[in-house]
Amino acid sequence: MDVDASAVIAGAGPVARPGERPTVRLRDDAASEEAPRYAPEWLQLREPADAAARAMDLLDPLRIRLANLPGRSGGLAVHDLGCGTGSMGRWLAPRLDGAQHWILHDRDPYLLHFAAVASPRAAADGSRVTVETRRGDVARLTPDALVGASLVTASALLDVLTREEIETLAAACAGAGCPALLTLSVAGRVELTDPDPLDEEIAAAFNDHQRRGGLLGPDAVTAACEAFADHGATVKVHPSPWRLGPDEAALTEQWLRGWVGAAVEQRPDLAPRAEKYLAARLAACAAGKLRVTVHHSDLLALARPTGGA
Ligand SMILES: C[S@@+](CC[C@H](N)C(=O)[O-])C[C@H]1O[C@@H](n2cnc3c(N)ncnc32)[C@H](O)[C@@H]1O
Repeated sequence: MDVDASAVIAGAGPVARPGERPTVRLRDDAASEEAPRYAPEWLQLREPADAAARAMDLLDPLRIRLANLPGRSGGLAVHDLGCGTGSMGRWLAPRLDGAQHWILHDRDPYLLHFAAVASPRAAADGSRVTVETRRGDVARLTPDALVGASLVTASALLDVLTREEIETLAAACAGAGCPALLTLSVAGRVELTDPDPLDEEIAAAFNDHQRRGGLLGPDAVTAACEAFADHGATVKVHPSPWRLGPDEAALTEQWLRGWVGAAVEQRPDLAPRAEKYLAARLAACAAGKLRVTVHHSDLLALARPTGGA
């Protein structure tokens, strides 16, 4: 059984490039070519599980805030940060009333292309939804970039940012006075049926892998709560776990390979035991006997209104 990074779909785990052995990749945005890539196949595979996991309880407080935003009559301007192939917009736009213009941000032009092609067209009440794409580094977002924003969203993004980047994001949202719905950040906890003594060691190594290069990984939600609260925002957090069973076997298989692969990249001494572990888990998955809960959190930050959108 292969726990090598080359067996893992890009985005599900550590990414191997042709001819490259997986090694610690330092975070250096000057070398953005080195930033990990997310395969559209991975984002498409996870989209239904993400949709099922999203915390519905945050929608009503968000709708109430949006209904009371000054300048709302011109429609909503929604900035989706790290949009990937646009999964967040496809889920949220049809759940909000009124005309919407989505500004889809990502640093990967290939993913932006997918997002533009499969963008949502209609709001909950049938109003028009339009989109534009913006290529760039969302970790350097300035308040200027959010002028006129009604809402900032992100999905599966916070955990790949640093504390400083989250503070920059919180400051930009506070400057714009707009709410932020930041969903599906990993919580660092996983439950599998038929618990195995190696589960915890792999989870701990995976979490350490996520923290490489100063990224927040499972600490992202706590850091975001602090950053938004420091700007006077009211912050609500709700669980949004993936609950994966036999119907999600393809996603579970890729997730398992990525989870174990990252753990072994972090702790190569785990490799001999992890190979057997992965083989057994994949066999159970293929037999429809594995259930996995991967814990995430959704966060809604309601900024102090600035008095004009
Ligand atoms: C795990 S994917 C999630 C994609 C999408 N939001 C979804 O839920 O399917 C993370 C996305 O964030 C983008 N991303 C990560 N860091 C970024 C940064 N600093 N600036 C812009 N985009 C970034 C990646 O290119 C990728 O599309």
